Amino acid sequence: MTGASGSILGVRLLQALQQSGVESHLVMTEWAKRTLRIETDYSEQDVADLATRVYRVDNQAAAISSGSFRTDGMVVIPCSMNTVAAMAHGLSENLVTRAADVTLKERKPLVVVPRETPLTLIHLRNLVTLTEAGARIVPPMPGFYNRPKDVDEVVWHIVARVLDQLGIDNDLTRRWGPSEPAAPLDLAELDASPRRLAHLPGGDRTDERDKP
Ligand SMILES: Cc1cc2nc3c(=O)[nH]c(=O)nc-3n(C[C@H](O)[C@H](O)[C@H](O)COP(=O)(O)O)c2cc1C
Repeated sequence: MTGASGSILGVRLLQALQQSGVESHLVMTEWAKRTLRIETDYSEQDVADLATRVYRVDNQAAAISSGSFRTDGMVVIPCSMNTVAAMAHGLSENLVTRAADVTLKERKPLVVVPRETPLTLIHLRNLVTLTEAGARIVPPMPGFYNRPKDVDEVVWHIVARVLDQLGIDNDLTRRWGPSEPAAPLDLAELDASPRRLAHLPGGDRTDERDKP
């Protein structure tokens, strides 16, 4: 976990891995710990308790720092642009970036869940570089086709997509498919006329066409 917004994504992923009986090795950068405190009610210890093993971010002598330690892959969630840049340039100044470098060189799945908005050309180029090196970029973008009722449903949907990348079975979210058609749209309910949008900021501008 790194210091991008979205600590809850990392927490929920660890919960899902624990529930699936998957061994997990957790590293949190210093900024990951800070954002966890700012954004959630979870303590660092709560998160550590969800992982099988926990390492200090400055411990490049940890097991996951070596390609000889076998893993099924690595997820950086949430992933800051700082860590995206370091991974894209092969820097290994902490255990997150070292383990990511090892994952790439061993040709194992490296799943990156980058979070920033808007993205600069530098961010985009670094993400392209990572993709070219074999990483899988899974931005935490909500899917609306399941009609999520709250933020937690959005978070679980993103976690499910990450688990899919690692080939870990899960039914955290309803999958789209012909066997499960979405509820039909009630077109009568959908009225996108500018008047119906008047409550939105900037939506109170009246267009000539709207005047009676
Ligand atoms: C509350 C909070 C939210 C942040 N959100 C983001 C973010 O979404 N994306 C990002 O790239 N950096 C974000 N940052 C800045 C990073 O934490 C900062 O760049 C840090 O150096 C990243 O270090 P790390 O990659 O070692 O975790 C945020 C910082 C704070 C305090």
